[in-house]
Amino acid sequence: MTQPVSTGRSENTGESALADEMRGLAQRAYQHFKNRTTDQAPSPMQLPVEAYLDEARYKREFDRIFTQLPLGLALSVELPGPGSYLAREVCNVPVLVTRDENGKARAFLNVCRHRGATICPEGAGKKSRFVCPYHSWAYAANGELTRINAEETFGEVDRTALGLTELACAEKSGVIWVALKPGSAFDIDDWLGDFSAKLDSLDLGNWYVYDQRTLASPGWKATFDGYLEVYHHDTVHGRTVGQHTVGNLLVHDTYGPHQRLTFGRKTLEQLDNVQGDDWDGSQYIRIIHSVFPNLSISGIIGGHCLVSQVFPGESANSTITRQTLLCAERPETEAQMAAARQFSAMTLQAVRDEDYVIAGSIQRALGAGANTHFVIGRNEPGLQHFHRSIARFMQDA
Ligand code: FES
Ligand SMILES: [Fe+2]
Repeated sequence: MTQPVSTGRSENTGESALADEMRGLAQRAYQHFKNRTTDQAPSPMQLPVEAYLDEARYKREFDRIFTQLPLGLALSVELPGPGSYLAREVCNVPVLVTRDENGKARAFLNVCRHRGATICPEGAGKKSRFVCPYHSWAYAANGELTRINAEETFGEVDRTALGLTELACAEKSGVIWVALKPGSAFDIDDWLGDFSAKLDSLDLGNWYVYDQRTLASPGWKATFDGYLEVYHHDTVHGRTVGQHTVGNLLVHDTYGPHQRLTFGRKTLEQLDNVQGDDWDGSQYIRIIHSVFPNLSISGIIGGHCLVSQVFPGESANSTITRQTLLCAERPETEAQMAAARQFSAMTLQAVRDEDYVIAGSIQRALGAGANTHFVIGRNEPGLQHFHRSIARFMQDA
């Protein structure tokens, strides 16, 4: 019996192709495990520390990468059904995501067209009308301005020209993608390319949202670098996620700027004894789907998944990480609830108390002058690809 990697469900279409793919990845990981090797970049890479530190450079990168490219802003399951909405500040931009009466996801600036007040308080739920708290102008879920309070005294204006400012938005692979700068456009099929099929294998649209939280985190690059390699797992995560993974063993695949990082699990040592060709490859690996520039989806065996979104703040020094914890099924039994609690506690510890302690130390010392360049190893191809992708987008800018 074979199962998809992340959910353990067996009803997906394309199940057998996915099972083959999992076995292929497990075999690649197993070769490395036996040989004590890992996928490697052709050579080490030098990266100037300025790439992490220079505020003017950061502002240029922020404008090009975070406001004009599609960002995975929300999961489809966060807006369940027509009439649901989500209001959230993202990279200091107030955004309102709605699902209109036809079920279409749309995104707007959460800013009133009268005199600019924030319309909907942060949060999520169901609403068909959004009423500005300042002078009670009202908007529909499709962004139309439906009411001007005391219109007869306000004077004549063209209501149709005063709908909410719409942002480019698309829904695909269980994620709602939005470009934050008004007027930016994107084609989500072009943007994801072949990676969308990989994301589809996660079946993200059917998970249960167990919990969400935000963590203060250091600068975008110091923070996101930690999501892109397994070189540090033995040293930093020996008591948490590193217990289950083989340190410094990475199977690396790229899809445009996006990446799939496959880690070997310690169960690989049992793979020698597995007979036949109907074995479950997902038992031997752990896969991270990393969507450029800031989204990491970590499918964990046992029906849990951690989605991390790293959103830059005002400066190069800080970000907010939004963690969403998913369960394949809503936990109901005491054992399921205990497993979800344990997963939540472990990911919090691994990220906040382990990764971000190190990333914070990097961030604080960037200006000390110890390094003019960082050296990114051949065994850190995920980082090399990430930083080369940033350079490529900035070249086109
Ligand atoms: S600012 Fe919104 S109604 Fe006046
Ligand atoms: Fe880590």
